[in-house]
Amino acid sequence: MSESEGTSSSRRKALKALIALGAAAWAAAVLVPGVSYLLHPLKRRAGDTGRWKRVAKLREVPGASGMPVAVPVIGEQVDAWTRAPAQRLGTIWLRKKSDTEVIALQAECPHLGCSIQLDAEHRRFACPCHESFFDLEGRCTAGPSPRGMDPLATRVRDGQVEVDFKRFRTQTRNRTSLG
Ligand code: FES
Repeated sequence: MSESEGTSSSRRKALKALIALGAAAWAAAVLVPGVSYLLHPLKRRAGDTGRWKRVAKLREVPGASGMPVAVPVIGEQVDAWTRAPAQRLGTIWLRKKSDTEVIALQAECPHLGCSIQLDAEHRRFACPCHESFFDLEGRCTAGPSPRGMDPLATRVRDGQVEVDFKRFRTQTRNRTSLG
């Protein structure tokens, strides 16, 4: 092979390598965002759950000896492909544990998901669907509910109560968050 043929062959190899590199970079630039776009909605959780939501002013939450109040949880409703702002995501029961701490309980019954009501006369919660009863701490005292009411983490920011809103699997003794 002559010197010029060798140089030409090296150039061809370098050019091929450059083209292959360019093709790989182009594929990555096109495919990665595309795949990410397609998968992104599937990674979202229904109901915009697991995020802190402002639900009430601390001063408006009943004290430890008072009766709980029901408050709506408002937030962005997200399903696989759509987002709807300011939707009602659920209801929770609130009561103070101390001057600065708040107890929050999911209003969804762990039995089959009916809405748990307050039975103020008997200082307890009651689920009217199949007659499960809970004390004001959320412990199940009677009925088919497999566990007590589901507690939610709370925090107070700038005088506002925030709740880490979640929903839970029904009909299970163990508490399993749906996210
Ligand atoms: S859904 Fe509450 S007792 Fe059945």
